[in-house]
Amino acid sequence: MHDTLVKPVDSIVEFLSKAGPKPDFAVVLGSGVQVLDQLHNSRSYMYKEVFGIGPSVEGHTGSLTIGQLSAEPSPVVAIFRGRFHLYEGHDWSVVTLPTQVVTTWGIPKLLLTNAAGGLNKSFSVGDLMVVTHYRDHLNPKLKAERGLLDQLRMQPESCENGFSKQIQQVGKRLESEGLRPLQAGTYAALLGPSYETLAEIEMLRRMKADAVGMSTVPELLTARGTGTEAAAISVITNVWNDQPMGGHEEVLEASREASQRLNTLLKHLVNETSS
Ligand code: HPA
Repeated sequence: MHDTLVKPVDSIVEFLSKAGPKPDFAVVLGSGVQVLDQLHNSRSYMYKEVFGIGPSVEGHTGSLTIGQLSAEPSPVVAIFRGRFHLYEGHDWSVVTLPTQVVTTWGIPKLLLTNAAGGLNKSFSVGDLMVVTHYRDHLNPKLKAERGLLDQLRMQPESCENGFSKQIQQVGKRLESEGLRPLQAGTYAALLGPSYETLAEIEMLRRMKADAVGMSTVPELLTARGTGTEAAAISVITNVWNDQPMGGHEEVLEASREASQRLNTLLKHLVNETSS
């Protein structure tokens, strides 16, 4: 909350653009996802300094780093570590703030990452899933923000674009070099913060959702129709089966392990999409 302290998007972009060149690529990192730890010629800010407020969820650092991928001339990347959630009581405008900064600044590519529960029984813990479709109208808050028309959408909505296809192509190539195959599928966004009941899991499966989480859809929708091409990758931190569920610690541990593979994928993507 404290949403009244949030700075206007234009002034945030002005502040950031005065300090250095516009990034070629932006990444939003979800719970426990750790990538691109060593950017070069970088500058870092705490969210509070940039946005006026910071996140309140464990595992979400709440910092922005902008820097080059390597010491040689290379693409400039902006890494937003942590996000604001609807379940924290934030408005849609705050939840989408990092994305609005990215689109307003005119950064061409935005990769959204999140921790998600696997619904698809062929998934394993630690899988990375490119989000090709989403379901949002199970979430009353998302529905309220987007209007009644959403109720008419009975099928998963596509969010495929050139960027999400490119991620899948790079994934295929890395697979031939030995990396675990990328999954692709439908992400269902629920409000949270508690995990799903078994009845909800069953319902989501019947609705053909492959993964479930509490974020990302507002950000994908915000980027749609702007000059920024956005795509999302879910880190599958747990798979819903007959085993008892672990807690937030288990989610963080699985995210850390999968982060290494995501890091490899990201470096390839940044280099290829920015050249
Ligand atoms: N459900 C919702 N959000 C999540 C999950 C889950 O099972 N795992 C990680 N984030």
